[in-house]
Amino acid sequence: MKKMFETTPLPSDRYDAVSRTLHWLMALVFIWIYCTAVAHYLASDSTLDKLLWPYHKPTGLLLLVLLILRASWNLLHRHKRPPSVNRWSSIGHGALYVLMLLIPVIGLLRQYGSGREFLAFGLTIMEGLEGEKVQWMIDLGRDFHSELGWTMLVLIVGHVGAVFMHSRRGEPQVLRRMFSRRA
Ligand code: HEM
Ligand code: HEM
Repeated sequence: MKKMFETTPLPSDRYDAVSRTLHWLMALVFIWIYCTAVAHYLASDSTLDKLLWPYHKPTGLLLLVLLILRASWNLLHRHKRPPSVNRWSSIGHGALYVLMLLIPVIGLLRQYGSGREFLAFGLTIMEGLEGEKVQWMIDLGRDFHSELGWTMLVLIVGHVGAVFMHSRRGEPQVLRRMFSRRA
């Protein structure tokens, strides 16, 4: 008798607290890293650039660490995540994850290949190479890091635009499930 009333639990209708915290924390850190990149692009060698640019690489490394935590958490809790709103949102989110991984990894490879020491947060992340530079790593970084970085900025603007489009269309639950305890 009891079995008759048992139902399979539906996927959660909101993101859990860890996912929400990591999403908004990373969104803030992304705003910061893009401030450093825009200043570098538009006003290279200006006082503003000299002030912000030293934070670019350590912030990129921090984003990679946060991404690894976020992706691991998602994987462990994949059965509890809310379903995608539609096909485009799952493609868009997938693309954001791929870029969140590729951009800092390519940046770090370029750093390694340059042979220069890399310090961040008071730690020696890379000691620097004694011998030759690794040219393919430098080329990979030179050819793709910035381009992929700007591509992701366009995707982020599209992502935020899509969220607000849903809200205007009378679907505020899309925004709420990344904010509140109840969607
Ligand atoms: C998700 C993290 C990251 C994002 C979104 C990002 C984004 C960007 C963008 C948009 C630019 C272009 C700036 C310009 O054209 O002046 C750039 C440049 C650069 N980034 Fe990153 N970056 C990230 C992580 C890293 C990491 C981890 C490193 C190295 C440890 C790094 C090293 C560099 C360097 C050296 C440049 C200058 C390239 C050049 O002037 O040719 N970035 N980054
Ligand atoms: C500050 C502006 C942002 C707003 C208003 C925003 C809003 C949202 C909302 C409402 C959702 C839930 C959508 C759904 O339920 O399908 C979401 C999910 C998501 N957002 Fe954002 N977002 C912002 C910035 C970012 C940034 C900078 C990134 C990454 C570069 C990002 C990556 C994602 C991803 C991957 C998801 C899917 C859920 C997850 O795996 O965490 N968002 N965002």
